[in-house]
Amino acid sequence: MSIDTPALSEELLSGKESKILDQEDICMECHDFSLYYSEKQALFKINMRVPSKRVTAFIGPSGCGKSTLLRCMNRMNDLVDGVRLEGKLLLRGEDVYDRSVNVTDLRRRVGMVFQKPNPFPKSIFENVAYGLRLQGISNKREIEDRVEWSLKRSALWDEVGSRLQENAFSLSGGQQQRLVIARAIAIQPEVLLLDEPASALDPISTLKIEELIFELKSQYTVAIVTHNMQQAARVSDYTAFMYLGELIEFDATDRLFTNPKEKKTEDYITGRYG
Ligand SMILES: Nc1ncnc2c1ncn2[C@@H]1O[C@H](COP(=O)(O)OP(=O)(O)OP(=O)(O)O)[C@@H](O)[C@H]1O
Ligand SMILES: [Mg+2]
Repeated sequence: MSIDTPALSEELLSGKESKILDQEDICMECHDFSLYYSEKQALFKINMRVPSKRVTAFIGPSGCGKSTLLRCMNRMNDLVDGVRLEGKLLLRGEDVYDRSVNVTDLRRRVGMVFQKPNPFPKSIFENVAYGLRLQGISNKREIEDRVEWSLKRSALWDEVGSRLQENAFSLSGGQQQRLVIARAIAIQPEVLLLDEPASALDPISTLKIEELIFELKSQYTVAIVTHNMQQAARVSDYTAFMYLGELIEFDATDRLFTNPKEKKTEDYITGRYG
């Protein structure tokens, strides 16, 4: 799975990380974006752009700020006491932290899936229908169609199509994670944030999630945190390497893994630390 942008000239590729995205439609961007948990600084002046309808992977050692940065993208950190921000984080050019932003709308546009599947204690059907009902959709037929569409897109329909009224907890871990992804895409967000979505899953479920991510990028902008570098290499078009709260390197995935510019990136991807 390689990057399917128009051929990038060597000149472009050898330039600064920012140049590589010049031909992409940009969905989200950070400008000197920093975050503090009370006194402790967790993100240091991050500058990066997340391209539309691509998969961008975030890698780096535990505690380097991957989840923190991802959670900023739909303001999940609003719920944490003592968080302070500097700089800007933009969605489609608009400041995500502007006073005028309605956080519920933002989270509808920027959906999130966590490491541990968290289905609601409801039926399979109701898990996916939930967000649609919240949106005010009440037409039964429309809800049924959207539930089916979402479960098909998340590669779960074949397994659950005949048991939609069963409790979601009756599903396996891998099925629950695909159900949660179905729930996230049912409301058709623009961006899907995935924080280690497959780390708790067996290899077959992991493969299904990876195939799903690859599928999803035709329609969504995907940002995925993963500890698994093979996974990052397999599913992503671009990769951001973070270390101790800084963005060390950002590049097309193929290049970051085969020809990293920074020593720290090279040390990490060759397994020298992390
Ligand atoms: N709610 C919080 N309050 C205080 N500090 C936090 C909080 N969440 C994270 N941190 C700190 O911020 C830093 C970055 O954490 P974060 O969870 O973003 O790392 P990560 O790269 O996702 O790590 P991992 O790979 O282990 O999930 C760490 O030092 C962590 O201890
Ligand atoms: Mg994390």
